[in-house]
Amino acid sequence: MATRKKLKKEVYLFIGLIIVIVGGVIFGINKFKEYQYHKTNEYKLLNLGYSNDEVDFLLDLNDDEIINYVLSQEKNSKIINILNEKYFLTKNFNLYIEYMNNNKDLSSSEIVRNINIHLDKNFYEDTEKANTTLDTTLLVNKHYLLDKDYIPDDLVNVSQNYAWGEVGSQKVREVAYNAFLDMWNAANEEGYYLMINSSYRSYEDQEIVYNNYKNSSGERFADSIAARPGSSEHQTGLALDIFSKTNTNKNTFSQTDEAKWLKENAHNFGFILRYPEDKVDITGYSFESWHYRYVGKDIATYIYENDITYEEYYAYFLED
Ligand code: DAL
Ligand code: ZN
Repeated sequence: MATRKKLKKEVYLFIGLIIVIVGGVIFGINKFKEYQYHKTNEYKLLNLGYSNDEVDFLLDLNDDEIINYVLSQEKNSKIINILNEKYFLTKNFNLYIEYMNNNKDLSSSEIVRNINIHLDKNFYEDTEKANTTLDTTLLVNKHYLLDKDYIPDDLVNVSQNYAWGEVGSQKVREVAYNAFLDMWNAANEEGYYLMINSSYRSYEDQEIVYNNYKNSSGERFADSIAARPGSSEHQTGLALDIFSKTNTNKNTFSQTDEAKWLKENAHNFGFILRYPEDKVDITGYSFESWHYRYVGKDIATYIYENDITYEEYYAYFLED
């Protein structure tokens, strides 16, 4: 009897021991898991105060450089906003952060836009060569300049039916001319008569245009209305100053039906209104209701529908 009792006691002891061991192991595993979890970026980000959605978003980026930066700072939702911007570019991340820190009053979209299109620099500062290998999609502006000797090799004469000046005085690249003719016909069917009064301009022509404004009204005014030589789209042979047969007045053309028709329809033919009224700070030029640039239908339509400038399109979709 005593032996049976002893045996029972030993079994209980054994079971008790097993329970203690299993419990200890489970506890140890959980502690280890907790220790491991505390080392994860998820835990560190939550610990900094980011929400679950923000943490998921950051982790989905799968970019160590970005996550390490975020972890090295106090919680800053503006960084999340920047990362969420439609035109955010990973290659510019460090520049966005530096620019954000130096420009606290700017919104995340302004930060992304300005860095993408080099607006952190003054116009004509640290300029680069325009990438002419991009053909009709090259960007020429106050940052990307053409060489003095750049002349497109497929310029054609604009018929005097559509342009003022002597025969042969108005030239444009063939692809843009064909698109213009389609546009001219479409406008004409609606009762409008478009007329070009400036098209291709050589480097030297542009020098004269710019210097005339500069000499008569000063550099500041000249820069708001004309490109410095090498920085004019007119040198690409892809830009046209389009007015109507009855109005060539830069002060009033924007009020005409032809200007309104161009604004709403030019993209269907591959042209963009290059210097819009509400983009003066981006383009660096006053509103030019007459200056249209050929970029092709797809790009022109994207720019029209998304209400962006060519600078913004180029930075996001075309620039290396
Ligand atoms: N007026 C435009 C900006 C040019 O000179 O090219
Ligand atoms: Zn122009």
